[in-house]
Amino acid sequence: EDLNKLPADLLAWFDRHGRDLPWRMALGERRDPYRVWLAEIMLQQTTIPHGTPYFHKFTDRWPSVEALAAAKDEEVMTAWAGLGYYARARNLLKCAREIAERGSWPETAVELKKLPGIGPYTAGAIAAIAFNQPAAAVDGNVDRVFARLLALKGDWAQEKKRLHKEVERLVPEGRPGDFAEALMDLGATVCTPTKPNCLICPVSGYCRAKAEGEPERYPIKPPK
Ligand code: ADE
Repeated sequence: EDLNKLPADLLAWFDRHGRDLPWRMALGERRDPYRVWLAEIMLQQTTIPHGTPYFHKFTDRWPSVEALAAAKDEEVMTAWAGLGYYARARNLLKCAREIAERGSWPETAVELKKLPGIGPYTAGAIAAIAFNQPAAAVDGNVDRVFARLLALKGDWAQEKKRLHKEVERLVPEGRPGDFAEALMDLGATVCTPTKPNCLICPVSGYCRAKAEGEPERYPIKPPK
């Protein structure tokens, strides 16, 4: 199959099977960059079941980035307790205060990456999901999905760069945020690390690793 057709098939699947998560909005609704950012920072270090109550606690208590920016450091650190990695909470506050100071969020991945605590993955995710920018959000799940689709066998550091370019190339016009979330959902629910469920996969027809017969072997990384 022609990989260029993958986004359309993936999005059709996402429309039916995408997960309903608290920081997502109803289809077509404008997404709140504050909620998208907060969820991405929290989920960098924890699972959705563990992180979700914290997401609600934060958005109930601080419904906007301005509200969070005005919070006392200790209040935020206390609310963060249980999520771990306190450097992230400190960066969260620093970032909120920068945004409040500026008066708005930057909308491109390049600009977002300059903010405290926002790396390449998070910048891409916010740009795509909150601002519909043609950006890719490549995390370990997306690495795995594409390592399988393309059956990448070379040096993993090199292959990762290639893969990243390929994901960026495939970002569909008009729906970059849905594409990013669809890949997250596919990686979390179908193309899982040890038992990929190719029978229900909406893009198995494009998958070279499935054609080879052992998709779970991918990604092939050098021993640490
Ligand atoms: N993991 C990290 N960000 C996510 C998101 N926006 N949706 C689902 N899982 C995620």
